[in-house]
Amino acid sequence: MRTHYCGGVSAADIGNTVELCGWAHRRRDHGGVIFIDLRDREGNVQVVIDPDTPEAFKAAEEVRSEFVLRIVGRVRARPAGTENPNLPTGMVEVLAKDVEILNPSATPPFQIDDDNLSENIRLQYRYLDLRREPMQKNLKLRYRVSKLMRDYLDTAGFIEVETPMLTRSTPEGARDYLVPSRVHDGMFYALPQSPQLFKQLLMVAGFDRYFQITKCFRDEDLRADRQPEFTQVDLETSFLGEDEIMAIVEGMIRDMMQKAQGIELPGAFPRMSYAEAMARYGSDKPDLRVTLELVDVADAMKDVAFKVFSGPANDPKGRVAALRVPGGAALTRSEIDAYTEFVKIYGAKGLAYIKVNDVTQLNETGLQSPIVKNLSEAALKAVMERTGAANGDIVFFGADKAKIVTDALGALRLKIGHEKGHVDGRAWAPLWVVDFPMFEYDEEAGRWVALHHPFTAPKDGHEDLLATDPGQCLSKAYDMVLNGWEVGGGSVRIHKEDVQEKVFAALNIGEEERREKFGFLLDALQYGAPPHGGLAFGLDRLVTLMAGAESIRDVIAFPKTQRASCLMTNAPNVVDEKQLRELHIRLRNPVAADKGV
Ligand code: AMO
Ligand code: AMP
Repeated sequence: MRTHYCGGVSAADIGNTVELCGWAHRRRDHGGVIFIDLRDREGNVQVVIDPDTPEAFKAAEEVRSEFVLRIVGRVRARPAGTENPNLPTGMVEVLAKDVEILNPSATPPFQIDDDNLSENIRLQYRYLDLRREPMQKNLKLRYRVSKLMRDYLDTAGFIEVETPMLTRSTPEGARDYLVPSRVHDGMFYALPQSPQLFKQLLMVAGFDRYFQITKCFRDEDLRADRQPEFTQVDLETSFLGEDEIMAIVEGMIRDMMQKAQGIELPGAFPRMSYAEAMARYGSDKPDLRVTLELVDVADAMKDVAFKVFSGPANDPKGRVAALRVPGGAALTRSEIDAYTEFVKIYGAKGLAYIKVNDVTQLNETGLQSPIVKNLSEAALKAVMERTGAANGDIVFFGADKAKIVTDALGALRLKIGHEKGHVDGRAWAPLWVVDFPMFEYDEEAGRWVALHHPFTAPKDGHEDLLATDPGQCLSKAYDMVLNGWEVGGGSVRIHKEDVQEKVFAALNIGEEERREKFGFLLDALQYGAPPHGGLAFGLDRLVTLMAGAESIRDVIAFPKTQRASCLMTNAPNVVDEKQLRELHIRLRNPVAADKGV
């Protein structure tokens, strides 16, 4: 039906007849002459319809927004002064001979190029939202990124293998999505949180290098960087250690970003231990572009009169830390109040601060703060020295359980850093975070839980700690962080059954449960499992960063809302009584289901 894409018409076509198909992006009636901006995947071109071609003109008069048209016409240079240098086709226009309406359109609920739309309306009419140029760009980029990674892995000898969607639970730390079985009364499949166990079994099977670009499903609290179903570029290798695996995937990301967008990432990403990341940046995925840093001061606060500080300073589970903001003495009362409210989200009870007027006077004259009178000169001296505070700065404090202080000041660091421009100007700050602990203590559940997943190998020499001191046991896990986003995570795995048993024991998974849930893995580890390890990238997150989008929803064709629903199809939804009966399910609260609550 056509010879060119609309966006592909150029000065080289001047004088030629072209046939175009597309959508009426905009129609303007200029006293006797009609202009239609015709749009397709590749862009817009201006079509001119003159009354000299009465049939075409009559059709053009009927055209409204988003009508689907076929146009035959001759390309000509735009008259001098009417060129649009901002448009790739801005030097030319098409003088129509024929205008055929292939399909009219109902009045669209919004103008396609309106970029002030609520996300709900965009998601409800996603097929119209996807007509918008930024969305077309994002999805093209997404395709390109996954193609480049697939090509890289193919060249490196990786084989793509599909793994099941209807499976058993793989513990990646989220709730499972369950699928009831019709054939097996009362039984459920789980959708995979990742292909983790299958890829390990493929290593046992001797595939050596596996990859897959695949959907994963996690029922967790959603945020801007999380979807209930998302895509991993998942890979696993045999007979390689951490350094070799990290080198392969670092090479893949560098190659992909270079080819996709001409981005030159620095050679050899820096590495940082989890402990250092938490201490200096209050996060296991630090955004290194932000120049502010946390400083620990608990030791200097042990004896001060201010109980808010001395309490946590003397508690082994406590933390007292400072965050210096250069020039921050200029912050207003209301700005400080807003930051104080902000840290409360993370459980902080307050946000003590000292404004530094004259760093040589460690008293209420030099330091402006409600808490100075309660701190010893020695404590103030330690704070000023360690934070490197200078006149005109502000120093914020967090004092509480370590997790609260770390989370609160880590988040405040990012907020102030971006709001007040304490950033180093780099476009890309990649980083490996390594030396993760094997476990973290879940206070609520009263037990250790795996920080990565329970199949991660302990660091060499740390195996004995599994039984004696799980909290001190480090793992062979690594995360790739880009601009403060965890874009990928992986580890070397346990390939010996006895070590896997010890990890399950440390996690308080009883012998019966081990057999019942992971018997197939433990069995496989007995049949010559090779040393192996791998990693998975979050494709949606990578593309979001590269597209400069705000939410991963903007790089997913048909995403879910924060409440995990699809506003276009209205999923999830109620099902027929008959279907439920076949699945052996009786609803406890059918009315609630009916209302979608
Ligand atoms: P992990 O759980 O770290 O590791 O997941 C790997 C990467 O997937 C992305 N990701 C998500 N993206 C969008 N929405 C989500 N809800 C979501 N959850 C995770 C992140 C993350 O870095 N099996 C292991 C990998 C391995 O050990 O090889 C795993 O799934 O970018
Ligand atoms: P208060 O003595 O409770 O009035 O608090 C004095 C200052 O300490 C105020 O600026 C509070 O915001 C701050 N503050 C209170 N609790 C904490 C805490 N746990 N960590 C940091 N600052 C706090």
